[in-house]
Parts: sequence; structure tokens; C-alpha cells
Amino acid sequence: MASIGVLGAGRVGSNLARALAAAGHQVTLGVRESEQTVEGAGIGYADHAATARAADVVINATPGDSALERLTALRAELAGKILVDVSNATIDGADGLPGDLCYPGSSLAEQLQAALPGTHVVKTLNTMLFMVMTAPGALSIPPTAYLSGNDVQAKKTVAGLLGDLGWQPAWIEDLGDIVTARATEAMILVVPHVLRRNGFTSFAVSLAR
Ligand SMILES: NC(=O)c1ccc[n+]([C@@H]2O[C@H](COP(=O)([O-])OP(=O)(O)OC[C@H]3O[C@@H](n4cnc5c(N)ncnc54)[C@H](OP(=O)(O)O)[C@@H]3O)[C@@H](O)[C@H]2O)c1
Repeated sequence: MASIGVLGAGRVGSNLARALAAAGHQVTLGVRESEQTVEGAGIGYADHAATARAADVVINATPGDSALERLTALRAELAGKILVDVSNATIDGADGLPGDLCYPGSSLAEQLQAALPGTHVVKTLNTMLFMVMTAPGALSIPPTAYLSGNDVQAKKTVAGLLGDLGWQPAWIEDLGDIVTARATEAMILVVPHVLRRNGFTSFAVSLAR
């Protein structure tokens, strides 16, 4: 059982918190308003700093375009921890869907790792709609969960958590160090086009073999 802090109680954060608590982990959801709760048993609530301080693994499920500044301010709380970044750092187009990358030629994950040298940043799960993260077996074709990060042990820990969410080992693709996140972060560029054509139905940007 791991002590997990999830920053952000939106669609992604509350979905992950529920599923990880149901899998038996000790989960705290980092919220901005103290009265905020989500459906699901066994979830604790705290502000973002207290959530990061108490956890061994911290998941960033807040908007990616402002995450660098927000998480850098939590440098002390995140020291020695695994930071799982599932966010997408994008500039919205006129219709509110992602239109461009905030860090072309780099990635949010690389920026986070540079700003937080004492933290093991692992990028994953940003390449799918939120419902796929906790129910990968529900798609007709096995989806892919990419992993990017410099620390092999941290990626093993995160792969274990993915297993608890229903991800089979064959569906998890460790791409290498944190620089590889610039490829998976760029995959967000296909997402708005798929959503416009097909609506908000489950999909993941995956490898077919
Ligand atoms: N939705 C998806 O299918 C999907 C898939 C892959 C990746 N992602 C990425 O996952 C992240 C979360 O997406 P989402 O769909 O869950 O978004 P969302 O439903 O809008 O939730 C965002 C969460 O971040 C919090 N937040 C916003 N601004 C904040 C700030 N300045 N300080 C602290 N907390 C702040 C919000 O808190 P309040 O409730 O207090 O406003 C909310 O809990 C984004 O980076 C997104 O790109 C989303």
C-alpha cells in the first residue's frame, strides 16, 4: 500500500483518487476549497501543500499550463517523492480545446524535473481520456500507457500503481528518460481533432502491434 496524494479534484484527479483508494491505497485529495469532496470511500482531503507533504507518490492532476509554477512552489514538500505528472500543458484554441503546446521543443515533464531535482518526475496517462486511466480493459483494443522518467525504480513504482488500475504489463510502454515525455506530450495535438469528429467518447493514443 502506498501513500498517494492527488493534486486536483477535477475529472482526472477524482477518478484516480477513487480508483486508487478502492485498490487499497491511502489516498489524500488535494483541494483548494476545504468543503470539496468527491464520491468514493476512504479518501482524505487536505490543501495541496499538506497533500504533497504527507504522500510518497504525488499525482499532478491540475492544469498543465500553470503547473510548473505551482509545483515548483511545493519543492520542499515534493523532495524525495515521486511526482506522477498526468497533465497536458496546452494553449487552448478558440473552441476551448487544446490548440498548441506550452513547451514546444521541450515538455512540462522536463521543465518539472529541472525545477525539482530532488523529485523523481514520471510522466504517464496524459495520452487518453480520463475514463480510460482507470478502466483500460473497457476499450475494444488494449490501450497504451507510456512511461517517461529518469529513475528506473520510480517508474517501477508507477507501473505497479498502473497495474492496480487495471493496466496489464504488456500495455505499459517505458519509453526511457524524461526527455521522451516531449513525444507523449505532443500526442495531445491529435486529441481535439478526434473529439471534434467523434465527441467525448473513450479513446487513448496507443501503439498497435
Ligand atoms: N480530462 C481528461 O480526459 C484528461 C486526460 C488526460 C490528461 N488530462 C490533464 O489532467 C489535468 C486535469 O484535467 P481535468 O480534466 O481533471 O481538469 P478539471 O476537471 O478542470 O480539474 C482541474 C483541477 O485542477 C484544479 N485547479 C485548477 N487551477 C488550479 C490552481 N491554480 N491551483 C490549484 N488547483 C487548481 C481544479 O480545482 P478546483 O476544483 O478548485 O477549481 C480542479 O480540481 C489537466 O492538466 C489535463 O490536461 C485530462
